[in-house]
This record gives sequence, structure tokens and C-alpha cells, in this order.
Amino acid sequence: MGNIGNYDEKYSSFRWKMSEQELSYGKDGMFNLAYYCSDLICERGHGDKLAFLWQGFKGEKKEYTYHDLSVASNTIAQYLAGHGMKPQDRVCLFMDKIPELYISFLGVLKMGGIVQPLFSAFGEDALFTRLEDAQTRAIFTTMKHVRKIRRIRDKLPDLQFVFVVNAGDKKLEKGEYAFSLAGIPRVDTFDIYKADPEAPSVLHYTSGTTGKPKGAQHVHSSIIAQHVTARWALDITPDDIYWCTADPGWVTGTSYGIIGPWSNGVTQVILDAGFSSEKWYQFIQQHKVTVWYTAPTAIRLLMKDGTSMVEKFDLSSLRHLISVGEPLNAEAVIWSEKAFGKPFYDSYWQTETGAIVITNFPGMKVKPGSMGKPFPGITATVIDEKTLEPITTPGRVGLIALKPGWPSMFRTYWNNKEMYDSKFKNNWYICGDRASIDQDGYFWFVGRDDDVINTGGHLVGPFEIESALLEHEAVAESAAVGKPDPVNMEVVKAFVALKSGFQPSADVELSIMNFIRKKLSPLAMPQEIEFVDSLPKTRSGKIMRRLLRAKEWGEEIGDTSTLEND
Ligand code: PRX
Repeated sequence: MGNIGNYDEKYSSFRWKMSEQELSYGKDGMFNLAYYCSDLICERGHGDKLAFLWQGFKGEKKEYTYHDLSVASNTIAQYLAGHGMKPQDRVCLFMDKIPELYISFLGVLKMGGIVQPLFSAFGEDALFTRLEDAQTRAIFTTMKHVRKIRRIRDKLPDLQFVFVVNAGDKKLEKGEYAFSLAGIPRVDTFDIYKADPEAPSVLHYTSGTTGKPKGAQHVHSSIIAQHVTARWALDITPDDIYWCTADPGWVTGTSYGIIGPWSNGVTQVILDAGFSSEKWYQFIQQHKVTVWYTAPTAIRLLMKDGTSMVEKFDLSSLRHLISVGEPLNAEAVIWSEKAFGKPFYDSYWQTETGAIVITNFPGMKVKPGSMGKPFPGITATVIDEKTLEPITTPGRVGLIALKPGWPSMFRTYWNNKEMYDSKFKNNWYICGDRASIDQDGYFWFVGRDDDVINTGGHLVGPFEIESALLEHEAVAESAAVGKPDPVNMEVVKAFVALKSGFQPSADVELSIMNFIRKKLSPLAMPQEIEFVDSLPKTRSGKIMRRLLRAKEWGEEIGDTSTLEND
């Protein structure tokens, strides 16, 4: 049997150079991705084109052309520079999906800063860990979220500026600054930071099994991969109305909610409202969305409301549908064909890969349940866990591995080069997922190779949950694992052993839940606590989460000696 996957370079004919050329129209030495996402589009004569239409949860709307986007991001860049902010300073964005979030993303980059987007639902502990690690110097937030920062501010000596968007006449504390785009002088032209291709751009924190979340650090030239994959994998063209449902607190919301679409000069629509199938269909109908990028959890929620809900709306504008973040089950693909007359195309990637690496391309035959094939320019395969060599037998499960060197590859984990280096073995970048490849080269996802919980497409590390639990006076030890869930694929379940003197009871459970609720984001909150006398451990004392997990999933545990070695 010959090679499978496309790790033989001859299958990988596409050269990233092509897209570098495509992106070389800008000013000399200018590789600042914010320039390509706003000013360049204006210079090409599309300043009057709508960059985005934003709709809030009450139905209120705002529209920004590419020219507006250029000026507003200049204004923010100047505002930051005026406060003495310098290139490479970390600026956190901690807001709901309001227009300022999207605009300041570009503004920070134009100033030369490193953007650190964080999901606005994070609790104070989650926020603290990430701000402390990045030594963040400034943060944009809103009145709704500022109190979480106030509670941890004293412990963050590097955090100099808290910019509170639309604070109005609300009373602010020391070191907080009311920020409003309308309230500061508008800046038509700004001397954009001349980022070289390797200049740091975005810092996205992602969870692993052990230790604190790690900041995957990206560079300005990541735009090459995001631009090209948005064009060819998401199939967005200048005439499209594009909707990415992801929050920029997560990587999908920046790579494909900002950089990919805007560098392609497309009009996007943004909905800052909670999920409801009716509202979503209405949104598509009203704005005539043509390309829609969403996640399996959302698709499963839509499925629950059935095709009868779909039939109430005119969704004929939809041309291409893509999914990301979790396994897209075959059932969802088949349902989507029935409901929308077209399948959802799966796409696979990670915070670390920065852009789509395995996917179903438009025009390619979709095998429901498969993630598709490596994107041209990406060399991907599955390797044997022990030999670290590519598997050549179709259908045999191994670790997904990529040949390093694609433009949007993370360049390090912030302050954690050791962990970064540990992801590369035998000249492969190991994604940490298991899959098999069939005889036609299609990848089939099997599961994660670590203890990270994927709930609704969002990765949650057991470490953060367990740390929060351990701070409660009654908890002696704890383990967090994923348990099956019909909508979110998995939700968090915590196993807790109590200290002597405490007995399991509904009161203790409530007390623990209330205690950790403040610390964690709603996503990371356990849906269930099971009290146990003790937790299963390896001989070296590590908690065997996989054993607990396997029980929840009704899986064969088999030989635990491999777990012993973990
Ligand atoms: O386990 C894989 C799963 O999500 C992980 C990456 O999560 P994150 O870094 O938060 O990035 C999310 C944006 C892509 C992967 O390691 N994952 C992602 N896409 C898929 C998937 N699992 C199955 N099928 C997918 N299409």
C-alpha cells in the first residue's frame, strides 16, 4: 500500500508564494495584516462597500463601510499610541460581539500591538490567568464586564489601562478610561506600524490537559493562509454576504470572523445575540446570507427544531455552508441537505494552526462524517503513536500530524517554548487528535489524544476546572472529564473526593457549584458533580481522567497499562 494522506510532497502542488504575491500590492515592507483588511480594500476602490452590518440582540443595527473601518481603526490606533502604547504591547479585547471589538482588533494591530482576544463570558479566574501570563498592558471592555477586571486588578501590575467602551457618565475607577469612538478625534490617516511578516499579531489562549492555558502566538503573515482558505475553503467571493457565527474570543472568530473575510473584501454580517433557530433563520433571510460558517452544536440545535422551522423562511440565498470545531456527524450533513438543499462542508483546524488545514472543498464529493482532505499547501497525515511514522494502511487510527511551515502556524506558546517544542516530533507538528485516512485520502476524526473537553466546539482544560474546585474548603481532590451530551457533544462532569469531616450532600454540591460559578465561564461549569471516595491514579500519582471518561461514554477500558504511562 502506498502513502495515504498527502505527505508525499508531489500531492501538494500549491505554493504559498502565490498568495504572498497576491498580497504584495501594499506599501513597501508593509505586512501589517490590519492594512490588508481595511486600507488596501479602500485603495482598490471599494471604500464605499459595506465591510460589516452589525445587529444587536434588540434588533438594533449599525453599518460600517471599508472606509469607515479604515478610519475607525486608525482612530483607535492613534488613541492607543496617544496613551503611550508601544509595538508588541499586549492589548486584550474583552467585550461582547459589539462593533468596537472588531474595529479595535484592527486598531491594535495598526499601532503594532499584539491583540489578545478573550471570550467575554470568562470568569475572573480565567481572565486573571490569561492577563497575568501575557503581561497585558491594556484592555478594552464594557461596563457589563468591567467589574470582573476590578476584582483582579490589584494582582495585575502590568495592566495600566482599562478602556471602558461606551461608559457614558458612569463612574469609573482609577486607571479606567471612558472610551467612545464618537468622543475622540477621528483619524483619517495613520502611520501604520510596518510589521514584518514575522511580527507577532494575535495571542489566542487555548487549553491543554495540564497546566494553565497557553497563549498560541501568531504573526502578521498568517494572513496568507487565512486569506487563501477563506477564499478557497469557505468559498467567499467579493459578492457574498458572509456570516461567521463564532465569537472573536475564540480563534474562529478572528481568523474567519475578521482576517479571512476582510482581506477578501467581503461584506459580513454579525449577530450579537444568543441562539434561537428562528432568530438565526430570520437573520439569514433578512440579510440574504450566502456563505455561512458555523459549528456542529449549532447545527444540532437547528436540527432539534426540524425542517418545519426552516420552511417558514426564505433561505434561498444560501450558497455554501461550512462547519468547524467538533466532529460533524454524518446525520447533520444529511439533515442539512434535506433542510437547506446543500450539505455542510466540514473543516478542521486549531488555534495553533491559525487556519483551516483539512477540509472539504467546494466541488469535492462530501463523504458525510469525514473531515475531508488536506488543504492544498498543507501536508497532513496520521502517524503511529509509537514509531511516529506515517501510517500507510487505510482505516488505521493514528495521530493527526502536519508538516511544519504553513504561514499561519503558531510561532510559539507565550512564555512556554518548552511546551511549544513538545508539539513537534520526528519533524511533524502533532495536533493532539486521532483520526484515520481512507483509501481515497479522506480524514475521519476519532477523538482527542488528551484530556481536553470539547464542549460545543470550545476547548476546556480540566486543569482550570479542577483548580477552581480545589479552592473550595470541602474538596480534597477532583477530576473534570467530558460526558456525552446530545447537543454540545460533551459537557463537563466533575468527580470530587471530599475532605474528611465533609459528607456528600445536595448542600455541599450547591455550595461548590456556587463557589466555582464566579471563577469559571459558563462553558467550563460542570453540569454534574459525582462524589467519590477517591480518584483512580497512575502509579506515579496522576489522575486517570481517561478511565473516568471512558466509563461516562460506555467505552471499553481495556488494558489500563497504557494509561499508567501517561
Ligand atoms: O479536537 C479538534 C477539534 O477542536 C480542536 C481545536 O480547537 P480550537 O483550538 O479551540 O480551535 C477551534 C477552531 C478550529 C481540534 O484539535 N476540532 C476542530 N475542528 C474539528 C474538530 N474535531 C472534529 N472535527 C472538526 N472539523
